[in-house]
Amino acid sequence: MSAPEFRPEPVRQPDDWSPTSWQSRTALQQPGYRDQAALEAAKAELATLPPLVTSWEIFELKRQLAEAQEGKRFLLQGGDCAESFADCESGLISNRLKVLLQMSVVLVHGLRLPVVRVGRFAGQYAKPRSADTETRDGVTLPCYRGDLVNAPSFTAEAREPDPRRMIKGHARSALTMNFVRALIEGGFADLHHPEYWDLDWMRHSPRAADYQYMISAIGDGVRFMETLSGTSIHNLNRVDFFTSHEALLLPYEECLTRQVPRQWGWFNLSTHFPWIGLRTAAIDGAHVEYMRGLRNPIAVKVGPSVTPDQLIELIDRLDPDNEPGRLTLIHRMGRANIEKGLPPLLEVVKREGRRVLWVADPMHGNTESTNAGVKTRRFENILGELELGFDLHAAAGTRLGGVHLELTGENVTECLGGARDLTETDLARAYRSTVDPRLNYEQSLELAMLIVRKRGVLPAAL
Ligand code: PEP
Ligand code: CO
Repeated sequence: MSAPEFRPEPVRQPDDWSPTSWQSRTALQQPGYRDQAALEAAKAELATLPPLVTSWEIFELKRQLAEAQEGKRFLLQGGDCAESFADCESGLISNRLKVLLQMSVVLVHGLRLPVVRVGRFAGQYAKPRSADTETRDGVTLPCYRGDLVNAPSFTAEAREPDPRRMIKGHARSALTMNFVRALIEGGFADLHHPEYWDLDWMRHSPRAADYQYMISAIGDGVRFMETLSGTSIHNLNRVDFFTSHEALLLPYEECLTRQVPRQWGWFNLSTHFPWIGLRTAAIDGAHVEYMRGLRNPIAVKVGPSVTPDQLIELIDRLDPDNEPGRLTLIHRMGRANIEKGLPPLLEVVKREGRRVLWVADPMHGNTESTNAGVKTRRFENILGELELGFDLHAAAGTRLGGVHLELTGENVTECLGGARDLTETDLARAYRSTVDPRLNYEQSLELAMLIVRKRGVLPAAL
């Protein structure tokens, strides 16, 4: 399969950049590898291993993101906070893909827009942490930085950063990609039909009638289209699902940064859509330096402490050509901060005529701890931040073009609330995340329906 190159404007390779130029900058959130020879050996091996994605898929995503910037598409980006090597397992992967595809069907029908589907998977193995070490009962060890770096159990051996884990992470990402590509290629077609979905949870919601109406409208729409075309709707092809991860562990990203025949410049071929996390978005830091030279579409998380001037400086550094599809800004302010934090940023980006895709991450600003010390998030705060995001964009004359979510296809109990109104007692039942709390299958589908209720063209209620 080939796609024509998407090159809407002349852009060029910065001549003061290389895949290793980040090394002269301060790199935050990197592990202290003790054995430099082992690190170099792992890097050398990684640099010879095949890439996980192709340049033409990357260009296709950039084209779709450029359309999203113009309001012609909506981005759905979601998956685990942190993938783990142990979770590279067929049931977990297919359930996660299933919930993302089902959410995208709800969004396509409700928003009347094609959806850009991007998974937070096949490489989401490195995590930023608030402290370098962790102390338990007087013992201090390096913190867990994700399976790409070390292991979560609290022993000196598990916590020692091991560069060979990068090789294993690459292999697990490839296994995940391979399975996702096969599932998509093979159909998953009945996912278009809500009558086959697990919708039992809807009965528990005060909005049950509303949801029921929405689901039958989607079912009618699918059947109508199939009658018209005389075939079943099966328009998912292999470039229709993209991958993303936080480009955090720079030795890993560097080794997967490649040139390809007949194209200028450099591509990160470990993922279609790398992003810079909040903690590593310093303008003069190594992560911004590394990302500015890639031809991939890139994203950066934006939190409540960023000033309008800093944001424009960051945009200038990452997207000096104002290139369509190049830059996505993911705001993650928190329900309590978004009304104050977001409008000045929307205003300055609009005033300066910068072409970006605005996306809401309503998860990371809403993390809290229960009295029992369990990390959780409230569904009402997640939804509340999202709804305010839509309203604030509308008021500013800008457009919220997508959502970025932490979710799983399993019925875990990590976030409070939702149709079944999960309580603090429920959290103990099925809490599996090693890092951040995720929306479960039902909460994810409900959130998609509530987005449609807020923004969609389907009637909100009977
Ligand atoms: C994340 O996306 O898991 C994350 C750590 O987010 P942020 O950088 O916005 O805190
Ligand atoms: Co997270």
